[in-house]
Order: sequence, then C-alpha cells, then structure tokens
Amino acid sequence: MADIETDVLIVGTGPAGSATAALLSSYGVANMVVNRYRWLADTPRAHITNQRAMEVLRDLGPEVEGEAMMHASPQEIMGENVFCESLAGEEIGRMKSWGTHPLSKAEHLLSSPCFMNDLPQTFMEPILFKTACSRGTQPRMSTEYLRHEQDGDGVTTTCRDRLSNTEFTVRSKFLVGADGGNSLVAEQLGLPFEGKMGVGGSMNILFRADLSKYVAHRPSVLYWVMQPGADVGGIGMGLVRMVRPWNEWLIVWGYDINQPPPDVTPAFATEVARQLIGDPTLEIELLRANTWTVNNCFATHLQKDRVFIMGDAAHRHPPSNGLGSNTSIQDGFNLAWKLAKVVKGQAGMGLLDSYSAERAPVARQIVTRANQSIAEFGPIFEALGMDGGVDHEKIQRNMEARCDATPAAEAQREALRKAIAFKKYEFDAHGVEMNQRYRSSAILTDGQEEPAFPADAELHYAPTTWPGARLPHVWVFDRAGGKLSTLDLCGRGEFTLLTGIGGEAWVAAAEAVGRELGLPIRTHVIGPRRAVEDHTGDWARASEIRDAGCLLVRPDHHVAWRSPTLAADPAAELRRVLKSILAR
Ligand code: FDA
Repeated sequence: MADIETDVLIVGTGPAGSATAALLSSYGVANMVVNRYRWLADTPRAHITNQRAMEVLRDLGPEVEGEAMMHASPQEIMGENVFCESLAGEEIGRMKSWGTHPLSKAEHLLSSPCFMNDLPQTFMEPILFKTACSRGTQPRMSTEYLRHEQDGDGVTTTCRDRLSNTEFTVRSKFLVGADGGNSLVAEQLGLPFEGKMGVGGSMNILFRADLSKYVAHRPSVLYWVMQPGADVGGIGMGLVRMVRPWNEWLIVWGYDINQPPPDVTPAFATEVARQLIGDPTLEIELLRANTWTVNNCFATHLQKDRVFIMGDAAHRHPPSNGLGSNTSIQDGFNLAWKLAKVVKGQAGMGLLDSYSAERAPVARQIVTRANQSIAEFGPIFEALGMDGGVDHEKIQRNMEARCDATPAAEAQREALRKAIAFKKYEFDAHGVEMNQRYRSSAILTDGQEEPAFPADAELHYAPTTWPGARLPHVWVFDRAGGKLSTLDLCGRGEFTLLTGIGGEAWVAAAEAVGRELGLPIRTHVIGPRRAVEDHTGDWARASEIRDAGCLLVRPDHHVAWRSPTLAADPAAELRRVLKSILAR
C-alpha cells in the first residue's frame, strides 16, 4: 500500500513540470509535483519567451498571461543584437532580432495574439508554480525522486523527504519525468538518446551594475563580445545578457571542457565583467556564479507505457535560439490534455502514444537547430580573422584590418555583414518557434496533402488548418464588438468545433456525439449575425474550408481533423474521427 495516491506524479518544478501541473490542475486532474530543492530556479537561466509559449500561458487564463507580461521586459527593448569588442568599446555589427525588424514584427503580429518577451526563469517558474498550486496541485519541495516501478494499472514511485531523510511511496496512474538535463527518470527508463552530453563548458556570472550608458541607446537582451581569446569552449565568445534593464546582468563565458571547471571567485568574476564591459574600474555586485555544460542530445522516444519524459529531460542543448524553456512548456501543453482525457475515461491509453510521436521530432529539431546556431558563429569569427590560433596580437590586427581602405578590407566587411545577417536563424527564427506540425494517431488528415512552406520554414511561420498544424490566429469579434483570437475560442482542456453559416448540422452532431462519448465539445459558428463574427474576412481566408465545413481543434490548439464541406452524415463523421483520435 503506497503512502500517497494521486493521478499524476510530476518530478520537477521547472518550466516543464510546473506548466504540466498548472495545466492538469486547470483541467481538474489530481496531481502532485516534487522538487528535490527547497524552492524554484534560483538563477535566471531561460528568458526569451516566444509567442507559442505565451499562448500556453494565455490558455491558462488572462491573469496568468497578464502577470507574465507585467514582469517581462517587452519585445520593443529586446532587439538590437549587438556584436562588439566590449560594451564600452567599438561596435562590430548589429542585427534586429526577436521580431523587432519591421518586417518580422508584422509577421509576429499576424501570427499570434501574444507577444514575445524577455521573462527570466526566476519569474516564469513562480508564475506557473503558483498557478498550479492555487488550482489544486500538491507540491512537495525538498523531496527527491529515487526510483519507480510500473505495472498494468499504475506507477509506484519512491521519494526521499530530504528534511526528515525518510523514504515514502506515491502511487499514481502516470509519472512524468520533468527532471531536467540529468534526468534520472529518463536514465532509469532506458530511453534511446542520440547525440552527446558535455560538448562545451560555460560559466554564468550573475551581477548587478548600472550599464545604462553602454546599452540604453541600443536596447537588446544580448551583447556579444568578440575579443581575442574569447572563443574558448562554451558558446564561443563572451555574452553579456540583460536580466533586468539595465542594472542586472548575466555573463556567459566559455571554459575548456577538457579542463576541470574553473573556480569562479568574486575576483575572477569581476575581472571577466570588467574585460567584457571594457571598464577597468567597474564595480559589480556579484549575485551568483556557477558553471554548466553544453549538451547536444535528445531522446528519440519519450515514453514507456505510463511514464513520460519532457523538457530538458528529453532535449538537452545550448541556449541558442532560446528554445529550452519554451519547448518544455509546450511539451506540457501537448501531454497534459491527453493525460486528462485518459484519467477522466474520455480516451483510451492509445492516445498517449501520440505524445512521443508528436514531440520526439520537435526534440530532434530544436537540439539540432540550437547546436547549428553555435556553429553559425563560425563565419563571423572567420570574417574577423579570429578563427584559430592563440596569437592575440595577430588576431587583434586581423580584426582591425576591416577598417582599412583596401579591397581585402572591403571583402572582409562584406563577409562580416553577411555572416551577421545569417544569424537570423538564431535570433529571428520565427518558423522554428511556430511551425510545429504533428503527425500521429491523434491527427486525421483523411489523405489531405500537407501544404508546402511558401518561404523558409525555419524563418517564417506558415499558417494552415491542415490537420496537425496549430490553428491559425486571426482576430474575430463577439456580438458586443469585443476582439477575440481564434485561439481564444479553443483550448482550456476541451475539443472545439469551428464552423460557419450552413454548418449548423455540425453543431448538432458535436452535441450528440459529445453526449454519447461523455466528452464536452465546444462549438462556434462564425459568420454574420452569429455569436462570433468575422468582420475583416481574415477567418474566411485563413480557415481553408467552405462556410459549411468544419475544423475540429484539439485542446492544445492543433487541428485534429477538418472537413472542407458539410458531410452527408456529420454525426457519423465526428464519431469516426473522435473514436480514432481518442483511441476509443
Ligand atoms: P529544469 O532543469 O528547469 O527543471 C528540472 C526540475 O527537476 C527542477 O525543479 C529540479 O530541482 C528537479 N529535479 C531534478 N532531479 C530531481 C530529482 N531526482 N528529484 C526531484 N526533483 C528533481 N530556454 C529558453 O526557452 N529561452 C532562453 O532564453 C533560455 N536561455 C538559457 C540561458 C542559459 C544560460 C541556460 C543555462 C539555459 C537557458 N534556457 C533557455 C534553457 C532552459 O533554462 C531550460 O531548457 C529549462 O529550464 C528546462 O526546463 P525543465 O523544466 O525541463 O528542466
């Protein structure tokens, strides 16, 4: 007999675990989270928060999205990505990033009701965790996961209470390993991984200092410092990252992974800060220093029967592109509704297989992208003459040669401009963030062909209602004239059916089939004199179906199935589709 019982036990209160707990509690599923530490993240590791992750927070409620925005640095001050010799020294180049270039900004505005922002992990985690606990999650801090055993009906997990040094067991229907890059859950499951851990070493130096005079005129979250000798290990150069504008900062500095991690003393940290900022007398208030390793590794399968892994447990990669926490939250959005449907008896266990089928390709994609982004700094080093060699004077001469009036220097300037512009694949890769299209048993295309991406799929989001894609966002209006995103019509743990004038038979069918399957299905008819109106015509253009067709949207905003027109027997169609998707 286990000491404690719950439906879902989650190991880890990072972005993945806290988001999953918040979603499960919002869906009314009993759950418990454990964290081996006393509290949440104590360093502001993740910060770039993309639109898709913000859509998850919006789904949790306007107060959750609102609180995040209240604490976040807004998108407008994120984007002057600077490459320089030091913050006080010469600027080498700059690129508009994170959706702040006017063309990119338009794409962001058209794609989502939410805004990209900079929200340090020290703010994001408490928001998610508080949402979870206030809605029913049972938290157990200072509690370490040790091991689990699963059988046909559930999972028995052994944990250690670190305060009393006693062990206890938890019996749950499901176990989620959101236990980070050194996941014990993943290790014990023996899940298959590709790639390598520990490919580079980095240190974080967190400090306070007012740097306004160096940065306020070129506001950015990232200032890349390129100095001779900076290209050691880690991310390849010195990074001065804004944590709070403009008086709290995190320096990320590489160290040689083949050597033991350095002891980052206050004197050493001050020295590095002075060097990168270019002010030999700068005084910093050192808040924290620690080292971490750069990984290039992902699981190719994310579950074993009743046990799942998510977040960094499944994908381990450098911070490039700012994908880690975002993807972790999105993993939770994918899995939580599926667990809820199975726990509530609305779906069969087969639905859960779609989690790995849908999210393992994302794990592969983001780890590959993040590591490629590191490699893509190479041409910048090359253009500056910084590639290889330890002769600092020679490197300095190479860097300065770009200012000469010679054909070689002109070629060097051109190469540098090109190399910096190419970094849009790291700093403005909207497609990487938004283009996830799923293929699994929880999606039915009925043979409809996937539309091609009209532009580079890593850089540009391509909206479509092809089943598997995320429902496109457009603004629609309620009868009082209030503006709603199409995403606001959906989500919150339930399936939604969207149709138009002439599609009322779908609504009746959804009600009947929903009753039959014990599954609430929300419905909306969009059109003139209906509860939701499309004054701009944007929905008619985005929906890719006729007015009397329908879209069936999953709780995570992805289109599950669509019918271009009214079917002869809408109830039979919906029954077929839902039974297949829900493994009933
Ligand atoms: P995470 O590691 O955050 O949490 C794991 C949890 O499991 C913790 O609560 C831990 O205590 C707990 N745990 C582990 N083992 C346990 C056990 N045995 N028992 C109980 N509890 C256990 N990402 C991003 O999206 N945008 C960005 O801009 C950045 N930037 C960034 C900069 C830097 C410098 C770093 C190092 C990282 C980033 N990231 C990022 C990445 C981001 O920090 C990372 O991807 C997320 O924290 C992953 O969240 P998880 O919840 O998966 O794991």
